[in-house]
Amino acid sequence: MIIPTHIEDMIRQQTQSGATFNAYIYDTTRLDKRIKCLKNMMPQGVEVFYAMKANPHPAFLDAALKAGATGIEIASLGEAHKATAAGFTPSQLIYTGPGKSLEELTWCVENKIRTIHIESLVEAHRIQGLCEKLNTTQDVLLRINANFDIHDAQTTFSGGSKKFGIDEEQLDVALPQILALDKLNFHGLHVFAASGVLNVDDLLHNCALVFELTQRIESQYQGVTCDIIDFGGGFGVDYEETGNDFDPQAYADGLSALIAKHDFQNRHFVLELGRWMAAECGWFCTEIIDIKTSRGKKQVICAGGINHFRRPAALAINHPMNIVNLGREKLFEAQEYVQQEKVYFGGPLCTSADKLANDVLVEEAHIGDIAVFGLAGAYGLTMSNNDFLSHAKPLEIVIEQGK
Ligand SMILES: Cc1ncc(COP(=O)(O)O)c(C=O)c1O
Repeated sequence: MIIPTHIEDMIRQQTQSGATFNAYIYDTTRLDKRIKCLKNMMPQGVEVFYAMKANPHPAFLDAALKAGATGIEIASLGEAHKATAAGFTPSQLIYTGPGKSLEELTWCVENKIRTIHIESLVEAHRIQGLCEKLNTTQDVLLRINANFDIHDAQTTFSGGSKKFGIDEEQLDVALPQILALDKLNFHGLHVFAASGVLNVDDLLHNCALVFELTQRIESQYQGVTCDIIDFGGGFGVDYEETGNDFDPQAYADGLSALIAKHDFQNRHFVLELGRWMAAECGWFCTEIIDIKTSRGKKQVICAGGINHFRRPAALAINHPMNIVNLGREKLFEAQEYVQQEKVYFGGPLCTSADKLANDVLVEEAHIGDIAVFGLAGAYGLTMSNNDFLSHAKPLEIVIEQGK
């Protein structure tokens, strides 16, 4: 990985004081570009939502708003509050996720968010009850756990026994009951196959299956139209730097062809993307505190570990990384350093699970240098074990746009 010059400059500037450096650096330029690019590229009817679970920092929400994202996919009341504080209106929010509490649903119904994506019959009845009490109605999608699994993905959301949505096989039992709930306005389906998918055809296969399911529902249930079809997120990023990036143009072309084939013009198609929009906007930068050899292998210990950057350990992958050499004074002459070798990177936590990278080839690294992990803008700090061992949180430094 090549560290962009402006990120390295920021690291050098921030480390001048000599204080231990442990920070995320964010530059949301890529998020802005990607939203605008998708809006131009995608077939008519496709709406682009930012899945803020990838990174809920206000700078990301602000960038999504300014780039013209259709709205925000939320997964909790906390996210709803952050999204509205950033300037999105409740009518721009869509809410997916299992286990929505009564308090969360109440806020959504009272504030008239755009759609709630029903994950179970219980949830459907809970929303119906709420709407009766508040004398209102709510637009909903039904989330389906399709009988389809993308194996080559980081996390799968459909296929097999899942906590997400209603099994495709149970549709004919569940849908009539949902349609009978008079306070719910049924608008269509939400089918999210998997996250971190690099193969466009795998995601398009999911789209094709959803379209077929839509046609079946519409022919079987008189008067029912799925005018919104939500494919969730899933566009992958190339963590292993194989050069095999997700190709959004191929996805747009494939989706266009599917829309034409099924005669599905004049519908809304929702993309709720997190990783692909946010990953390239963040670098986790953490100071090397210690280097030692243990049974023939160098152990590089950094200021931050899985408390600040849990993804590599949780998903058993190495993020692309590089070192900013700061040339700090040695503590003693025989102090160890790394040169052209494969090493282990860990944090300061008292668990072997505290791994940042393993067997990663490093050209040169010394104590006091900064290890920089790229593609860390999505699912970085937000999915880490912040309070474990009560270290201070890392800084979150935002590169100001236009500078
Ligand atoms: C319901 C839902 N929508 C969207 C996303 C975003 O997915 P991705 O980051 O793969 O784009 C997720 C991720 O977990 C999700 O659960």
